[in-house]
Amino acid sequence: MAYDLTKPADPSLAPGEARCPGPQTRDLIIRDQDNAPAALVEASYQFLGDEDIPYERYTSEEFFEKEMDTVWRKTWQWACREEHIPKKGDYHTYDVGPYSVVVVRSEKDTIKAFVNSCPHRGMQFCDAGSSGSGKQFLWCPFHGMSWHLDGSLREIPNRWDFPHVNEEEFGLMEVPCDTWGGFVFINLDANCEPLEEYLGVLPEHFKDWKLEDRYVELHTRKVLPGNWKMCEEAFLEAYHVLATHPEGIHTTGDANCDYDVFGKHVTRFIHTIGYPSPHVAAEVDERKLFANLGHNPDDLPEGVGARQRHADLLREQLSKEWDADLSGLSNSEMLDSIEYHVFPNAMFFPGINIRLVYRFRPIDVDHTLHEILLLRPVPENGPRPKPAEPIDLAIEDSYTKANEQSIGGFGLALVLDQDTENFHRQRAGIKAAQKSGAKAGATLGNYQEIRVRRLHQTVDEYLSA
Ligand code: FES
Ligand SMILES: [Fe+2]
Repeated sequence: MAYDLTKPADPSLAPGEARCPGPQTRDLIIRDQDNAPAALVEASYQFLGDEDIPYERYTSEEFFEKEMDTVWRKTWQWACREEHIPKKGDYHTYDVGPYSVVVVRSEKDTIKAFVNSCPHRGMQFCDAGSSGSGKQFLWCPFHGMSWHLDGSLREIPNRWDFPHVNEEEFGLMEVPCDTWGGFVFINLDANCEPLEEYLGVLPEHFKDWKLEDRYVELHTRKVLPGNWKMCEEAFLEAYHVLATHPEGIHTTGDANCDYDVFGKHVTRFIHTIGYPSPHVAAEVDERKLFANLGHNPDDLPEGVGARQRHADLLREQLSKEWDADLSGLSNSEMLDSIEYHVFPNAMFFPGINIRLVYRFRPIDVDHTLHEILLLRPVPENGPRPKPAEPIDLAIEDSYTKANEQSIGGFGLALVLDQDTENFHRQRAGIKAAQKSGAKAGATLGNYQEIRVRRLHQTVDEYLSA
């Protein structure tokens, strides 16, 4: 028997207070009784209004330009992993909209970031999207001016012709740069708040999930046919699981997913893997569940739950395969889909089986570059493997092209295809409603789509700042 999810909310509840019948994700995590980190059961929800989100925000060139001038110029964004620039002289170029920044390892333990534009006549001194290594200085290919790795001027060819140039003031244009979790972040706003403050609860929540001790085992880049917010939103809620990923509901929580908003820049969802959706089951049949998780039901020992056994088997298998000690991790950390969004464009999953990082970058009002990184713990007894080279997927390519096995080995490629196949239709439908004057905006669920609403409110806070 499944829970009845069709009933309207109890009218005595205030807006946003209604929840799916049955245990919520945090109840199920507590039920595991395996000392899951306190952060996973911390709740932080607040009703933020129920007005429609105007479609114009996804379609208007003018709105897009305003976002470019504010949101993308004043926020912290990760440019690359530290492992992408391991040696002094290594650099990596991060581009978004009209902006381009070069991050450089200027000393063994120092990383700096510079606007990718020559102080002479504006030439980009590094190609957009490029990375390189080993040089002792940065050099502009137009007239050959060069700078030391710390950004200070090294040489102006034909120096005699520039008596008016003060060498002290002719360095590269430096922008704020800092690191967290093995990621190099940049911000184009010289007056920005420190990264640590910007990240809110993140450093505290991730203190035992050291992303700096993981390496990039897979990296994909794909253009998505949609506005950047529309594309991100598809990954901010599990409400769509029932319709978009219907095969998932036998092993995946959805309607009972936890949603949290942790201040201005960070939101989170957690949904379980290893329990069926409340849409299909109130009483869990453990043998059936164990079979749905890909095992022989006869291998489930008496008195052991399917989720527990599934997590134990995975812990054992991956510890061996990866040369990593996963013994102290809770079932939730091993299995669940735990996703933190950091405004404007990053998502970090600290889990082990679902160990993803997403980054979204607007290309134009209708297109977004979506990158996926899979981060695996570095082997305990071995060197850090080199980060995987990015695999470029065309807009119509299936994620299976990036190798179904290596993209997590948990059917992720097919799930991503389902998610991204929605975008053509959603973009077209938004325009059809808006341009015809039929409906001017999207209507959101109060709880399950709170992260979507928060995303828009944060955009507004930057636009009006
Ligand atoms: S534009 Fe760079 S050296 Fe002239
Ligand atoms: Fe999805």
